[in-house]
Amino acid sequence: MSSLRPIGVFDSGIGGLTVARAIHDLLPEESILYFGDTAHLPYGEKSPELIQRYSTRIARHLVKSGCKAIVVACNSASSNALQAIISEVGPNIPVIDMVTPVVKYLSHNCAHACQVGLIGTRATIASGLYHRCLKDLSSHVELISKATPLLASAIEEGFFNDSIPQAVLDAYFSDNLFKDIDSIILGCTHYPLVKDAVKNLLPSGVEVIDSPSIVAEQLNSVLTAMGEKVTESNLKEKLHFQVSDLTENFKFSARHFFGDDLTLEEVVL
Ligand code: DGL
Repeated sequence: MSSLRPIGVFDSGIGGLTVARAIHDLLPEESILYFGDTAHLPYGEKSPELIQRYSTRIARHLVKSGCKAIVVACNSASSNALQAIISEVGPNIPVIDMVTPVVKYLSHNCAHACQVGLIGTRATIASGLYHRCLKDLSSHVELISKATPLLASAIEEGFFNDSIPQAVLDAYFSDNLFKDIDSIILGCTHYPLVKDAVKNLLPSGVEVIDSPSIVAEQLNSVLTAMGEKVTESNLKEKLHFQVSDLTENFKFSARHFFGDDLTLEEVVL
């Protein structure tokens, strides 16, 4: 049997739970150690330097906790702190980010000239990383991006099944910037929680790219190549959640995604 060490997954808050869920669905035998930096969210409004400081501290903690791979389940951190995280973690532990696998997916799946929309936090859009990576990998993808900064905070507050995210999205989409797109990247891990509200504003043929599943597939390939994938385990507690500030919102969202079969604790780094 391969390594039973956990997979470390982190985000500023609940958004990375969409990625943790996709990992758990694809790799149900793996243990996950999730860290939500709820004391410091939103990352999307922070400077690259501060995002790097918070992200490297979490990565160090996950490595010390014995994680065999780190998933940066936050686009703002993936776009602004990836090199710093990789340097912190060292060469023996793979780091999987949110941007690279999605860009690869697009470069393989857009056979002809296509227009792709991107929404994300200010920090993600301002970094320009999706643009640069797509330019390097695929000449026929045109990326049209827009920062939607209010959205993650509304979702973090628990507004994901009601009219509030729809109203926020209505306002952001009212300029018709995305009227000709073929697909859209939800470039913030909070956004899959309001996927239906995004779909409501786009023509029915527009593909909403499933970043959490694409990232989970990438993790699967990396663990398989390393011989570190767990295919069978009788570990009882596979889902361990840590947050820097144990809020009611986080408790509610963790249970919304995973039921009661999890441990949840506050850890101050
Ligand atoms: N979920 C995060 C992302 O993917 C960050 C949201 C925030 O903290 O601003 O960018």
